[in-house]
Amino acid sequence: MKLPLVVANWKMHGTQAEAATLARQVLNGGRGIRDVEVVLAPPFTALSTVSAITIDSAIQLAAQNVHWETEGAFTGEISPKMARELGCQYVIIGHSERRRLFQESDQAVAQKMVAALRSDLRPIVCVGETLRERKRGKTNAVIARQLRAALKGVGKSAIEKVAVAYEPVWAIGTGRNATPEQIAAAHRWVRDLLQRLRGKKEAERCRILYGGSVRPDNAAELVKVPEVNGALVGGASLKAEAFLSIVRAFHSESVAES
Ligand code: PGA
Repeated sequence: MKLPLVVANWKMHGTQAEAATLARQVLNGGRGIRDVEVVLAPPFTALSTVSAITIDSAIQLAAQNVHWETEGAFTGEISPKMARELGCQYVIIGHSERRRLFQESDQAVAQKMVAALRSDLRPIVCVGETLRERKRGKTNAVIARQLRAALKGVGKSAIEKVAVAYEPVWAIGTGRNATPEQIAAAHRWVRDLLQRLRGKKEAERCRILYGGSVRPDNAAELVKVPEVNGALVGGASLKAEAFLSIVRAFHSESVAES
């Protein structure tokens, strides 16, 4: 049984004061939950504030993005080294909002993966199809293309540091959750690809998360889906109680299985 990983992606929400309040609420409300790894991904501007709050706890931090270079003339970007310095252990790479709104390519994702690992940041790489692609029967092909590209520079020994988030674009922020069958099929496909690309034993160590309108009311169903090793939560992570009830759903499932 893999330790479930539940990630709060706060996106571009929260002043430092709001982020501090939310982080404290998650920290206090989540005390006692030991068998789920909880990661908060605040905006860059709140990373050091949140880090000061979570530093002595089991809660980990993620950056929502990084550039692939260590430094240089890249206005508006931050490097993996900078994210690391702010207390991040993880980084979200290739989120569909970055791909769609900021034209982030498969190649950029691949470069970011390598740079993150080089700086000892664990990548949470996002893959997933649009509604149009699903309707055309291209779901598996899209996932395969994105994953193959993302892992291009990631060797066998580094693969265990990678988590893959399957996030169908049509389910993100829409309130439209993929069905357990759709999630199970996609996660099986991701696991299968990981095994084929980097070896069975190595691939087994990767966690595959689901993301896309995960809420307290669908979390119980989600945790029962085979190959779901955690969740990437956007909207529902902005309310501590909602986020914690998702974390608790994974907690109950891992207690039940152990
Ligand atoms: P959502 O976002 O939970 O609001 O759908 C998920 C994500 O973008 O990672």
